[in-house]
Amino acid sequence: MQLNRRLLVGGLVALCASHVVAQTIVVDGEEIDATASNVDEASEVIAGDFLPEEKIQLTSDVLANLTDLELSNVTVLYFSEGVSARKRNTRTLASCKTFPGDLLWPNQIIWQVLNLVTGGSLIKTVPIGASCYDDFGNYNAARCSYVISQFTNSSLHILDPTSSMSPLYEGMTCQPSEDPAGTCTLGGFPSYVVDAKNVAHIQLAVNFARALNLRLVIKNTGHDFNGRSVGAGALSIWTHNFKSINYYKTYTSGSYSGAAIKVGAGVIGQEVYEAAEKYGVTVVGGEGMSVGYAGGFLAGGGHSPMSPLYGLGADQILSLEVVTADGRFLTANSNQNTDLFWALRGGGGSTYGVVTSYTVKAFPKIKTAVMTFNFSTSSTLSHEAFWLAVRAFFKLIPTFNAAGTYEYWNIWHTGTDTITFSMVPWFAPGHTLAQLHTLANPLFTAWTALGITFSVTESEHASYYPAWKAGFPRELVGGTVSKTAGRLFPKANFVDAAKFNATFDAIKGLSDKGGQVIGFGITGGPGPYPDNAVNPAWRDAAMFAISVINWDEGSSWDVIAQKSKLLTNDWMKPWRDASPGSGTYASESDVTEPDFKQSFYGTAKYARLLSIKNQVDPTDLFYAHKGVGSDEWYITGQIDGVPTQNGRLCRV
Ligand SMILES: Cc1cc2nc3c(=O)[nH]c(=O)nc-3n(C[C@H](O)[C@H](O)[C@H](O)COP(=O)(O)OP(=O)(O)OC[C@H]3O[C@@H](n4cnc5c(N)ncnc54)[C@H](O)[C@@H]3O)c2cc1C
Ligand SMILES: *[C@@H]1O[C@H](CO)[C@@H](O)[C@H](O)[C@H]1NC(C)=O
Ligand SMILES: *[C@@H]1O[C@H](CO)[C@@H](O)[C@H](O)[C@H]1NC(C)=O
Ligand SMILES: *[C@@H]1O[C@H](CO)[C@@H](O)[C@H](O)[C@H]1NC(C)=O
Ligand SMILES: *[C@@H]1O[C@H](CO)[C@@H](O)[C@H](O)[C@H]1NC(C)=O
Ligand SMILES: *[C@@H]1O[C@H](CO)[C@@H](O)[C@H](O)[C@H]1NC(C)=O
Repeated sequence: MQLNRRLLVGGLVALCASHVVAQTIVVDGEEIDATASNVDEASEVIAGDFLPEEKIQLTSDVLANLTDLELSNVTVLYFSEGVSARKRNTRTLASCKTFPGDLLWPNQIIWQVLNLVTGGSLIKTVPIGASCYDDFGNYNAARCSYVISQFTNSSLHILDPTSSMSPLYEGMTCQPSEDPAGTCTLGGFPSYVVDAKNVAHIQLAVNFARALNLRLVIKNTGHDFNGRSVGAGALSIWTHNFKSINYYKTYTSGSYSGAAIKVGAGVIGQEVYEAAEKYGVTVVGGEGMSVGYAGGFLAGGGHSPMSPLYGLGADQILSLEVVTADGRFLTANSNQNTDLFWALRGGGGSTYGVVTSYTVKAFPKIKTAVMTFNFSTSSTLSHEAFWLAVRAFFKLIPTFNAAGTYEYWNIWHTGTDTITFSMVPWFAPGHTLAQLHTLANPLFTAWTALGITFSVTESEHASYYPAWKAGFPRELVGGTVSKTAGRLFPKANFVDAAKFNATFDAIKGLSDKGGQVIGFGITGGPGPYPDNAVNPAWRDAAMFAISVINWDEGSSWDVIAQKSKLLTNDWMKPWRDASPGSGTYASESDVTEPDFKQSFYGTAKYARLLSIKNQVDPTDLFYAHKGVGSDEWYITGQIDGVPTQNGRLCRV
C-alpha cells in the first residue's frame, strides 16, 4: 500500500458548537499510527531577502501536498484564512484554553503528526531539574549536581528548550536539589515545545495551537522577569536556533539609508555585538551579556548603554519578519503591515505574533571609556556620609546624561548594617578616558570631600564590543528569593529641588526598609523619536531604577505573597508618588504592577496597541502576563500576590 502523503486527520469531535477538532489519522479508510512513511515534513524553499531559516516556509501548496486529495484534509495544520478580516467576537470563543486531561486535548497520534511535519522538532517537556528526581525516569546524580552548580548561569537556561530564569513564576516546580522534597511535576512549564529551525516549524505550531485551542507560549532565552516565556498546558515555540545574522553595508528604508544588520530571533546580545564588531559597526543592544536581542528585548523597547546617544533598541528597527496568528509569514515595515510594525517596536513580546528577525540600524564604530568603582559604609564612613555621596551623584545625573554616558549602579545591603554603592560600570561611548575623567571630576571631588576613598578600574577601547566585555558583569539568574519592581524617573525629578528631594527620599527610603536598588543613569535618547510603541515614559527619563525585595530561602508561598504585596503597595508607593504620570519598563518590572496599562505602555498607546492586537489576533492565540489584552484572561489557582503561570488560562 502506498501511504506516502496519504493522510487524513479525521474522527471529528465537536466542541462548543464552534470548534471541530481532529483526533485520529485515517489513511485509505484505516485508522493508523502517524509515521515518517505516511507523513512528510511540511515546508517549501521560498526565494527572498530572508535569513536561511526564513526561506523554508509553509505554503498552501505544501499543505495540499501533505494530503491525498481524495481522502484527506489536515485541518489542524491549516492557515486561518482571512483571520485578520474577521470581526472579533469573544462570545464565540472557548472560555478556557484546552488543558492536558481535557477530552479535547490532542492524543498521541496528533502530537506525532506535528512532530513529523516539523521534521522531528517536537519535544515533550522534561523540566530542567528532572534529573534530581525519579518522576521523568531520568534520575542522574551527575547531571543533577551540574544543574545545581550552574543554575545561576544564564547559559544553562538558554540551552534548555523550556527553562526560564525566574523559577518563581513557573511555580518553583521541580527545583533542582540534592535532597529534593516532593515530586517533579510540569507545573508552569509547557507540555510540549517545537524546537523551531525554520519558519515552517513556527507556522505549523501556530496553526496547530490555534486550531486545537491550545495555549501558545514563545521562549527565546528565558530571561523574562515575569514568567512570560512559560505556561502550564501550553505548546511552546523555542526560537533559540534562529541564529543567522545578515549585514548590509547600505540598506534603504523610508528616510534611512545606511548600514543595517538583520538578526534572527534566537541571537543573543553577545552574538550580535560580536558580528557588529566583525563588520566594523555598532548595534544598540542591552547590557545583559546573554539577553536575547531580536526576541523580548526589542519587542519590549530594549534599553542599552548606547541609549543616551541613539535611543532605545526598538527605535533602530527598520523592518521585521513575523508569523501572525493566522499562520502567515509577513514582513512589517514603514511600507507594509504598518500597524504590526508600530506595535512590535516597544509594544511587548508574545502578543502580536512570533517575530523571526528584526533588521536594525548599524552605527559607525565608536571609541568608549569605562570605569568601575565602589565604596561601602564602615567605621570610617557613616550612613549619613554614604547617602550624601549618593545625593551628590544624583545631582549630576542630568549632566552625565547630557554627555551621552550611561551609569549602571547599585546600592546593596552587603552586610549587617553595611551598604555598598557600586558603579558597574560607568560606560562612556564617544569618550576617551581623559574626557571621562573631566566629566567625573565634580563627582569625585565631592566624594573626596565627604571622606570617601575608592579605587577606580578603568579602560579605554577603540570600539563598543571590547568596552562592553570589559565593563559589564555576567549577571546571576535563577534566584527564588526575590521580586523586583521599577520606575522611570523623569529629568524634572533631578532639576526641580522639591522633586529631587522626593526622588532621593524615595530611593533612600526603600533602601532603609531593607530593599536593594539597581539603577541606570540613562535616557530614552536625544530624539527626534520615531513613532513607535515605546513607552512614552522613556522619552523624558533621566534614570531607571529597579527595586528588589528579598525573603529567606524556603519561605512559604504565604510569606512570598506577603513580601510581594509589601514591595508593590508599600515600598513602591513613594517611587510612584515622586513621579506621577511616569511609568516603568515592562521588561524589567513588577508582575503585580498596579495600573499596568498606563505604567507599561502609556494610556493612549495602550488603546492603539489593543486595537491592533484585536485585529491581528482576533482569537487571542497569544497571551503574555501583563501584556496588551492580558486583562481579559486569568490563570486558575493563583495565590494573590504571586501570579505564577502554573494553572489553566481562562477568559475573565
Ligand atoms: C540578567 C538580565 C539582564 C537584562 N539586561 C537588560 C538590558 O540591558 N536592557 C533591557 O532592555 N532589558 C534587559 N533585560 C530584560 C530583558 O530585555 C527581558 O527579560 C526580555 O524580555 C528578554 O527577552 P528574551 O527574548 O531574551 O527572553 P524570553 O524570556 O525568552 O522572552 C521574553 C518575552 O518575549 C517573548 N518573545 C521572545 N521571543 C519572541 C519572538 N521571537 N516573538 C515574539 N515574542 C517573543 C516571550 O514569549 C516572552 O514573553 C535583562 C534581563 C535579565 C534577566
Ligand atoms: C508537491 O508534490 C509534487 C509531487 O511530489 C512535487 O513535485 C512538488 O514540488 C510539491 N510541491 C510542494 C510545494 O511541496
Ligand atoms: C479542508 O477543510 C476545510 C475546512 O473544513 C475546507 O474549507 C476545505 O475545503 C477542505 N479542503 C479539502 C481539500 O478538502
Ligand atoms: C556557563 O555555562 C556555559 C555553557 O555551559 C559555560 O561555557 C560557562 O563556562 C559557564 N559559566 C560559568 C561562570 O560557570
Ligand atoms: C569593590 O571593588 C573592588 C575592587 O575593584 C572589588 O574587589 C570588590 O569586589 C568590589 N566590591 C563590591 C561589593 O562590589
Ligand atoms: C531638599 O532637601 C535638603 C536636604 O534635606 C534641604 O536642605 C532642602 O531645603 C530641600 N529642598 C526643598 C525644596 O525641599
